[in-house]
Amino acid sequence: MLARARPRLLFARNFLANPRRVGSVIPSSPRLVKRLLGHTDWQKIRVAVEYGPGTGCVTRALLARLGPDARLFAFEINGQFVDYLRREITDPRLTVVAASAETVGAALAAAGIDHADIAVSSLPFSIMPVAVRQAIVHATADILAPGARLVGYQYSTTWLRELRHVFRHVTVQLEPRNWPPAFVFTARRD
Ligand SMILES: C[S@@+](CC[C@H](N)C(=O)[O-])C[C@H]1O[C@@H](n2cnc3c(N)ncnc32)[C@H](O)[C@@H]1O
Repeated sequence: MLARARPRLLFARNFLANPRRVGSVIPSSPRLVKRLLGHTDWQKIRVAVEYGPGTGCVTRALLARLGPDARLFAFEINGQFVDYLRREITDPRLTVVAASAETVGAALAAAGIDHADIAVSSLPFSIMPVAVRQAIVHATADILAPGARLVGYQYSTTWLRELRHVFRHVTVQLEPRNWPPAFVFTARRD
């Protein structure tokens, strides 16, 4: 009980301190995480990148699905979340990168990796500065292998029009069993 309450408190405190960056007062529901990570053959994924892990509900689910030789690079700009993740999740497949998602290309290059097989986003794209989200979307298109996907969720679909300028194949599904209800999107690189 206490173990579940601690990350929720940390999450809520950081939302109150910076609502536009954290984007939600509570972590994603298990239903939303399941929908986000559905439709992917995780055993085929060698390199995954995650944007906005927060207190790690998506991170843990990713690690549970990925194979033993896979790598997961999780990009987080909130120092308290970075410290929490590094302390609480000691899986050797995970690298927590304390930097914005737009640095994904440089971080992978520093690890000797030239592409990722999937990008999983929890970023509040629709409320972040336009220049930052455009930089992240372009950086993601650059590092994804042909045919690979960016999957994520949003609380509104308006931003998805912009996403379609970079990724032409974008599909959306509603997940009502989350607060607030969320739209899960999948964008495939040509
Ligand atoms: C809605 S929370 C998602 C947390 C968790 N993954 C979940 O689904 O409950 C969004 C997270 O994105 C992080 N974030 C916001 N802008 C970011 C950026 N440019 N790069 C990396 N992380 C960012 C926030 O600090 C926060 O942890």
